[in-house]
Amino acid sequence: MDVIIPAPDQLKVLSHNQYNTPEHISPTSVSPSPFEQFRTWVTEVQGIVPEPEAMSISTATRTGIPSSRFVLLKQLDKRGFVFFTNYTSRKSKELLENPHAALAWYWKEVSRQVRVVGRVEKITKEESEEYFKSRPLGSRLGAWASEQSKVIAEGEVAGRLKDVEARFGVDGTRVDADIPLPEFWGGWRIVPDEVEFWMGKPSRLHDRIRYLRVPESSGDAPEWKIERLSP
Ligand SMILES: Cc1cc2nc3c(=O)[nH]c(=O)nc-3n(C[C@H](O)[C@H](O)[C@H](O)COP(=O)(O)O)c2cc1C
Repeated sequence: MDVIIPAPDQLKVLSHNQYNTPEHISPTSVSPSPFEQFRTWVTEVQGIVPEPEAMSISTATRTGIPSSRFVLLKQLDKRGFVFFTNYTSRKSKELLENPHAALAWYWKEVSRQVRVVGRVEKITKEESEEYFKSRPLGSRLGAWASEQSKVIAEGEVAGRLKDVEARFGVDGTRVDADIPLPEFWGGWRIVPDEVEFWMGKPSRLHDRIRYLRVPESSGDAPEWKIERLSP
């Protein structure tokens, strides 16, 4: 990216990146299910895109003030997209008071974008437990040590980690300690009403294919209306 900073209070991007994906997508070429289409794209980009599971999630307060951050997609099941976090964090507080979210992935190496809008639900404790057990020891301890999104003092988190290690007997001699799932930690599932697949094309005339959930179709086996959108 070429940038120029002509004055201390300005930043201008002068480059005009071009996108030219060789493939095309159309409402008839994509899968009838956006979940299947997402799986196809992730399979195609893995090994090319360094961290395809990194996604932006936007939440909003009760009054509609938005905030975004990146998280990692960990599961896609038949209902939706699942990520894991602290249930007392800013994003979780916002999801509790306004259970809607928007997701976005940008896979630069292949000029593709995916967007999702949907309702959110907490996954079950059993599902969170199953995932928590699969995490490396350090990440399980880290979940206990962090009161995510709280204002803290310098060094506070290191002190909390020491306390957690002592509590669970992780001292270098017992590193196989069974660390339980914290009650304040787990997964959220975004159940999409809308999914869009985007491919970058020359002259900004990109391919955009959007799936809209047919409102009366069921949560586990939804039907989708598939349309092309103007770039
Ligand atoms: C690539 C990437 C992946 C991340 N994955 C997660 C994640 O899966 N869960 C999580 O809670 N935070 C994750 N984070 C940290 C979040 O972006 C954020 O800092 C944190 O969750 C606090 O957000 P909040 O205060 O809005 O709740 C990730 C950050 C990056 C850059």
